[in-house]
Amino acid sequence: MSGTVPLGALSLAGPHEPRRQGGAPSPFSLVDFQRRTVRYVRISLTDRCNFRCTYCMPAEGVEVVQRPDLLRFEEIVRLVRVFVSMGINRVRLTGGEPLTRRRVVDLIGQIAAIDGLEDLAMTTNGHLLPSLAAPLRAAGLTRLNVSLDTLDADNFARITRQGDLSSVIAGLDAAKEAGFSDIKLNAVMLRGMNDAEAPDLLAYARDSGFTLRFIEYMPIGTDDFWGPKSFISGGELRDILLKAGWTLRLDEGSDAKGGGPARYWAAWPRGVDPASEPGTPVGFITAVSDHFCATCNRVRVSPVGILRECLSTPGALSLRDAMRHGDDDAALAASIRDALDGKVDGHRFEAGQQTFESMVQIGG
Ligand code: 5AD
Ligand code: SF4
Repeated sequence: MSGTVPLGALSLAGPHEPRRQGGAPSPFSLVDFQRRTVRYVRISLTDRCNFRCTYCMPAEGVEVVQRPDLLRFEEIVRLVRVFVSMGINRVRLTGGEPLTRRRVVDLIGQIAAIDGLEDLAMTTNGHLLPSLAAPLRAAGLTRLNVSLDTLDADNFARITRQGDLSSVIAGLDAAKEAGFSDIKLNAVMLRGMNDAEAPDLLAYARDSGFTLRFIEYMPIGTDDFWGPKSFISGGELRDILLKAGWTLRLDEGSDAKGGGPARYWAAWPRGVDPASEPGTPVGFITAVSDHFCATCNRVRVSPVGILRECLSTPGALSLRDAMRHGDDDAALAASIRDALDGKVDGHRFEAGQQTFESMVQIGG
């Protein structure tokens, strides 16, 4: 992690002047004041979810955005076009649960048809995949990440409050059958809740050919759930795996892999000789204990169209309002470019900073 960049650096070129330092290819290319190039946008389709994961949402009383306030499909497609014109080549659709958005398969088809977009991915809780995996694939979705925090049906019901493990496992099978390759499993790990299951999750990933990533719990949507009692670091999880007989070796080249935040290790279960095979890849997304802000390549768009430059700061630019007030594509691009000046050098979650909006409001 690089040192702290003084906030004064934000005013280097003035808020409305395009930055050309660092050999930026066009006035509107997405290079921020730390010369991080943004190539990846995560767009949340909805703040609704058919689960109520304990660490993400309260059990009841969730206020949802009214439909007219959500970005419309044509607005989302237009935004992706503008982002692609600025150098974005990867889009991920998130939520809430993106598959609860009506006619989501149509939307995928429209986004997938945009020239210059190389990768259209989705993060889902998997519940609706049994019926939707094949149509999503046919519509042009290229990759899938599925959240799976536990393989124990009771624990799954406890963590998700409304979820049913068997539908997610069936959804994963359907995704494989539909031809998705490199399916990733995201496991948010919580001390005392699913940490002891880390070896089982890894064994399942190895057997089924999915790539597991352990995600550190971040102080987002924080009530009093976040804290030392629930947070467990990637390093502690590796200790749990070692104690269960796994051999782990850091994959030195993995930082560059896929441009994502995970650092990958190769893993071999007890009884398998590491010399005999390459091992099962397992990723650790250590957003808190060892963050990767210095190489951050992403921005987010919330369900109501707020551009969010960092999980740790509220976004200010409403792309939805800009579009509904008649901004043309060039004006949108200029606003996005300017907003990037607000991308902070990094969060301070490890030092007690918290984000009080929930992941469903932000877009995961
Ligand atoms: N910290 C880390 N990951 C989280 N997710 C939701 N809330 C948090 C949090 N506070 C995860 C979900 C899903 C992804 C979109 O974000 O489990 O995998
Ligand atoms: Fe829904 Fe994902 Fe939040 Fe769980 S973590 S409630 S599946 S959005």
